[in-house]
Amino acid sequence: PIAKELFGLNDLEEKIRRTYGLRKVIVVPGDCEASPLTKRDLGRAGAKALLSVMSDDDIIAVTGGSTLAEVAEQLNLLTAVPMKNSWFVPARGGLGESMEFQANTIASTMAKRVGAKYRLLHVPDLLSDDAYQSLVQDRNIQEIVQVIRQCRIIVHGIGDAMEMTRRRRLDPVAVQGIQAEGAVAESFGYYFNEQGNVVHQMITLGLRLEDIKRTEIVIGIAGGRSKAKAIHSVLKFGHEDILVIDEVAALEICKEI
Ligand code: BG6
Repeated sequence: PIAKELFGLNDLEEKIRRTYGLRKVIVVPGDCEASPLTKRDLGRAGAKALLSVMSDDDIIAVTGGSTLAEVAEQLNLLTAVPMKNSWFVPARGGLGESMEFQANTIASTMAKRVGAKYRLLHVPDLLSDDAYQSLVQDRNIQEIVQVIRQCRIIVHGIGDAMEMTRRRRLDPVAVQGIQAEGAVAESFGYYFNEQGNVVHQMITLGLRLEDIKRTEIVIGIAGGRSKAKAIHSVLKFGHEDILVIDEVAALEICKEI
């Protein structure tokens, strides 16, 4: 806390919190794109934020991504009681991430770290309309999707829209469409424009926008200067409660506000 005051991070947190009407903002010093240590600090701050709101009877939906993987890594049971009645689930099905960054992997790692349970959602990455239509009919899938939609907490990463289309190897026509719509951010497989409106969505199962809107606690975690626009856009979407970012992203966001 003393270091935070010296760096003026408390002021940054308060400015962002007030501007976007958030419950809590945590800014870690540094730049996570330049330093793996900062990324670790970001992960640790995210893990702490999650533990501070979790109870022993929760459903927590998580997205994939390298930031969330770091949150899972840093999640240690700080409380004496294992959270054995809580469930970790992926927020949405296959979005085209590498194994270690998949939401399923992250949900299971987090659950093991705090002694909770997990359920996975096995949906192929590139889902055609036909495949989607038959998967929605599947009883087992329906059951896990029901659990996901009842989550009380969402923990998610935020990506730059174009960066995420590259990572997911979307075909050039789709990328052009997404760009033409003015997408700047991606989260949960939804693409948002600068005003925070959804302009494109990946075909998969799990949380719908209406589920995200009614979820009690939404925690967004992201860092790096290049993500400032994306973070702003997701904040404009207007359903975040707790935001955990790094200093360079915070400074960049504050230039605009
Ligand atoms: C994806 C999530 O897996 O990771 C997204 O589904 C998020 O919600 C993205 O936008 C961010 O990834 P990273 O590696 O930059 O944390």
